[in-house]
Formats: sequence, structure tokens, C-alpha cells
Amino acid sequence: MPAWLKDAIFYEIYPQSFKDTNGDGIGDINGIIEKLDYVKSLGCNALWINPCYDSPFKDAGYDVRDYKKVAPRYGTNEDLYKLFEEAHKRDIHVLLDLVPGHTSEEHEWFLESKKATRNEYSDRYVWTNGWLQGVPGHPYIGGEADRDGCYMLNFFKCQPALNYGFLNRTEDWQKAPDDPACLATREALKDVMRFWLDRGCDGFRVDMADSLVKEDDENKSATGAIWKDIRAMLDADYPEAAIISEWSNPMQSLKSGFHADFYLDHHGNGYNTLLRDYETAGGDHSFLKKDGNGDIMRFLNDFLPKYDSTKDDGYISFITCNHDTPRPRRTLEFQELKLATALFLTLPGVPFIYYGDEIGMRYLDIPTKEGGYTRTGSRTPMQWNHGKNLGFSDADSKDIYLPVDPSADAPTVTSQENDPDSLLSTVKALTKIRHEYTDLHADSEFEVVYAEAEEFPFVFKRGELYVAINPSEKKAGVSVSKKREKIYEIGTTEIKENSLIMDPQSFVILK
Ligand code: NOJ
Repeated sequence: MPAWLKDAIFYEIYPQSFKDTNGDGIGDINGIIEKLDYVKSLGCNALWINPCYDSPFKDAGYDVRDYKKVAPRYGTNEDLYKLFEEAHKRDIHVLLDLVPGHTSEEHEWFLESKKATRNEYSDRYVWTNGWLQGVPGHPYIGGEADRDGCYMLNFFKCQPALNYGFLNRTEDWQKAPDDPACLATREALKDVMRFWLDRGCDGFRVDMADSLVKEDDENKSATGAIWKDIRAMLDADYPEAAIISEWSNPMQSLKSGFHADFYLDHHGNGYNTLLRDYETAGGDHSFLKKDGNGDIMRFLNDFLPKYDSTKDDGYISFITCNHDTPRPRRTLEFQELKLATALFLTLPGVPFIYYGDEIGMRYLDIPTKEGGYTRTGSRTPMQWNHGKNLGFSDADSKDIYLPVDPSADAPTVTSQENDPDSLLSTVKALTKIRHEYTDLHADSEFEVVYAEAEEFPFVFKRGELYVAINPSEKKAGVSVSKKREKIYEIGTTEIKENSLIMDPQSFVILK
């Protein structure tokens, strides 16, 4: 386990929309370098950068055309190496996004694989034996290749599935995971990882990490075996490198070698009951909304079994949101966002802040771009100041990648940085405390002290520290030893006799 993860607070950067330094209307690697001091000032000491490789961008770069080449619109490989170097000077680790399950249909492996004559790449992707023979139970494409077969898709139409084999095989074209062709795919993936790790990258966020072996068993044991093998490579040759999975099943991912796993925006799970307030399918009723309709037990009943059974294997990652989910500002107000940040930065595991959530950027209702659809509204340009294009780019406004928030009160970094009461200042104060107190680090003990269905507050212990949160509009109280001392609070809290009295929408850390 890389020791640096214990104290890591990640910042996710969607490169299209962070900072444009060459005036072409799209963010670039040099823009990320320019803003490293900002990232540091936030208290973030690690980055996850969404795919920045050469791509036709039909799925925002998750359709990789060349794993080893930076997309020209973002800059050059040299720019990325410089980013690693400049980040390291500031003690910031950098994770790239690894897309192991599929490539773009324009990747040279696929162009070879499509050919009628057999070659080294013929079995690099999942193909059936005939132009009329589909892939049972999966999306596939026929009629587009010279080769007599259909190929399987892993996500969009532009993303053919790489071939890691099938665990349960019913068709003769399905290969075993240890077939030489599937082992070659795995080696090609390791080669990509080594390429970037050798050049200064500190690890990977792994896209759809559970999607490698098809018709796997319910524990995903064949896919897990591949990750165990990859983890062994890292332990031997890159012990400081981290891999963090998009899997959202820590019992599978952390047991398969991932250092951390994202707690994702899946309907009805514990994460959603904390942060989301969707009204569909019964509603998740965010615990953090002041209306007090949330219930902390809905979170704990989901989280605790996962946490208890995996805490010795790795970390669960709480995210403010990501490039696939609506920004929390869509349903939460500023005070609620402050409380959300406070909770996420005091829970165990490795937290992730999505760019712009630290200032409460809005989710915009805008048309799709690059396969974003409803996700596009969370991918708009970072709002630095009230200048042209909110400081994102010097380009003509009609030429920028996505529109900036047009509202007169669009939150910006400059409007919040000197206001001690702003969301940005709250984020900074909390990251500072998290770094200062090892009890708040990823691996420190977590114990529930007070949690009752439909009651407030929620109180938990991290090592010797007590953390209490009352997101509701009503006062709430709980008994505590009067010797405890406040080290940080949001709103007003008071220790009277042996009770902690919490005003509406308050939070406190006691030592
Ligand atoms: C998950 C990524 O986060 C998402 O943006 C992408 O569209 C799919 N995987 C496919 O790679």
C-alpha cells in the first residue's frame, strides 16, 4: 500500500474544462501546470486527470486511439512529463485514467483486428465467427469489417471490447482467460501502465475495472485474478504507484488488489442517501438536506458492512461528484454543501473533490457534447474569476469548449477566496485539519458513536477525535464528556454540562 494515500486528498480534473492557455477554447496540460499552486492552496495533494490521450473524442477521451500519446489538443507528451515534474515539486501525486476494457474503434489494434487476414491483433478484441453470429447477451456490431465476424462492444458503439476471455464459455469463439491471446491483451495493458509509470505518473484511476473477463462469476473472480496479477507487478516494480477502481464494490475490488474503490452514484446506495436527493424511484432523500428527510441509517446499513469487511485491504473513496454525475449544487444549497464537504473530509478512506465543486459550480442544462448527454452539464469550464469566459480561456466565447455558467452570481475562485465564510474557505480549512490530524487520515479508526434512524445528529469517532453533524433545520443534542474541546465548527455548537447542543445545520470536530 503506497503510504502517501493515507493523507491523500484528490482533485479530479476534466482537462477539457480546467484552464486553456493557448486560446483555442479548450483546456490543456499547460493550464493544469499553471494551476498547480491553486490545487496546492486547496489542500489537495493528488490529482486524477480524465483521459488525456489521443482520441476521436466520441466519449470524451474514454475512446482511446493511442494509449501512449497525449491528445494534441491538450499538448504533447513532454507537457505531461513536465506536469508530473512540477506536481512532484509541490508534493502532488498524479493519477492518469486507465481505460482497460475497450479502445476507440480507431485504435491501430482494432484496425488490424478488423482485417480479413489473420494477424497479431486478430484476437485482441472479442469477435464471433460469422457476420450473422451475434454476441449473446451483449451489444455487438456486424457488417463493418472485412473480417467475417461480429465484434462486441464494451460501452458506446465507438468502444469495441478488448479480449480478456470468458470465464463461462458456451460458444467456440469464446476464449479462456488464460488463452495466449487473452494473456497478450493483459500484457499490452501492463505495457501501457509501465510506459506512464516510467515517465513519472503515480498510478491510475481505472475505468470500468470490473469489465475485463466476460461471463465472469458473481464474485468477478476471473477479472479479480487479472488485477491481482497487475497488483503483483506494481508491488514488485512500482510499490509507490496507486490503482483506484471504478467498480463500487469494495468487497470485490479491494480484495482484487485495488488500493481504493470509488463509492459511486448508484441509485439507492449509501453514497446517494448522503448526497443525492433524487425524486425518482422513491427518492434518496439526502441526509445533508436541511429538510431533515434523510436517514443516516440508510447510509450506514450500506456502508458499514463494506467498510468492516475491507478496511484492512484498502480504502473506500467518497467523491463530491465526478464527470458522470450531477454536481451536488443541483440539489444542495451552500450551507448544505459545506456540511457535505465536512462529512466527506472526515470520513475514513481517500476523498475526491471534483474540480469546481469547491466553489459550488452549478450543474447546467446544456446540449450534449462528446457523448456526455446528461453528464455534459457537470463538465463546463472552471470558473476562475469574473473576467472573459470566467477566466477559463481568452478565446472568443462562441469558440469555447462548453459554455460557462451565464448567471450573474456564477461562483468563482476570486469571489470566494477572500471570504472566510465561503465554501472555498471551508474546503481549505477542512483539508488543513485533515492533514494536521492523523486521526482523520484514510486508515484511522472509524466508529459510530450516535446514529439513529431519522434522528440527528450523527456522531462518529475517528481515532481520539469526535465528529458530529446536524444537517437538519432543528436543534439537536447528544451527550458528550464536557472535557472535550472544539477544534473546528460550522454553524454554532455548544458543550453544556455533559451535552453537545447543535444548532440547525452545524458540524463540529472535538478533541
Ligand atoms: C466510465 C467513465 O467514467 C465514463 O465517463 C465513460 O463514458 C465510461 N466509463 C466508458 O469508458
